[in-house]
Amino acid sequence: MSAFNLSGKNVLITGASSGIGRQAALSASEYGATVFITGRDETRTKSTFDKLTGSGHQYFLSDLSLAVEIPALVEKLPPMDGIVHCAGITGHMPAKFIKPSHIDSYFNLNYNAPVLLVASLLKKKKINPKGSIVFISSVTTQHPFFGGSLYVSTKAALEGYSKVLSVEVADKGIRSNCLSPGYVKTAMMEATGATVSQDVMDKVEKAQMLGAGQPEDVAYAIIYFLSDASRWVTGTNLLLGGNIGPAKQ
Ligand SMILES: NC(=O)c1ccc[n+]([C@@H]2O[C@H](COP(=O)([O-])OP(=O)(O)OC[C@H]3O[C@@H](n4cnc5c(N)ncnc54)[C@H](OP(=O)(O)O)[C@@H]3O)[C@@H](O)[C@H]2O)c1
Repeated sequence: MSAFNLSGKNVLITGASSGIGRQAALSASEYGATVFITGRDETRTKSTFDKLTGSGHQYFLSDLSLAVEIPALVEKLPPMDGIVHCAGITGHMPAKFIKPSHIDSYFNLNYNAPVLLVASLLKKKKINPKGSIVFISSVTTQHPFFGGSLYVSTKAALEGYSKVLSVEVADKGIRSNCLSPGYVKTAMMEATGATVSQDVMDKVEKAQMLGAGQPEDVAYAIIYFLSDASRWVTGTNLLLGGNIGPAKQ
């Protein structure tokens, strides 16, 4: 059997109602996993759920920016072999305009939610030995953008956290890794496009070494990290799409 096969594995995927998380859920189910997906919007979450391959999957609605919802979610879950943290927000907020409420809104979802979710799963012994935890960071921690200080800070914090976590869970064979995609065509980037000029978005796209990515491009890497093919890989951060260079003409 292929080392990439996910049969017999339970996989939790947050942010599965859209974009990267949705594709991760669809692909994980195609590779044989039983998937447990979360989203906030019922119609979008159910639409992912209805497209999953195989049976035994479940979906949950939860606002992960509210810490109180995390233990409630974990209570309903069986032990997991894989966790993929895709729920996230982005935006522009120039440094001089940052208020405490902005810090809270970025950190509550992008950092606190995955960190508290892992804490709760570990406490309840709901991450099986040899499990795999995958965080979605961003190429922007290495190639910052104007107005991105809060978004980039949440992702940089996540990268640091994942490295420490890899040390703490290694004795159980559990692995923790980050993926750092460049520009992926999802609702998140459509929303970003609505707040800046087309010229800016064109420049961002042209600066991607391999062009803009599709959710599938991230899902392939997620499958690798969830599978036994990556059983000797932990504490890493895989850059997807290459470095960002000067805009191509
Ligand atoms: N797209 C890119 O270019 C790119 C590049 C690098 C990294 N990333 C990262 O990849 C991850 C997925 O991004 P994406 O592009 O797939 O974005 P997306 O299409 O906008 O999806 C975001 C997901 O997060 C969920 N979400 C938002 N707020 C939530 C909350 N308070 N509680 C629970 N779930 C919430 C959304 O759920 P609902 O739809 O149900 O509200 C949705 O499922 C993010 O962490 C993002 O930072 C994206």
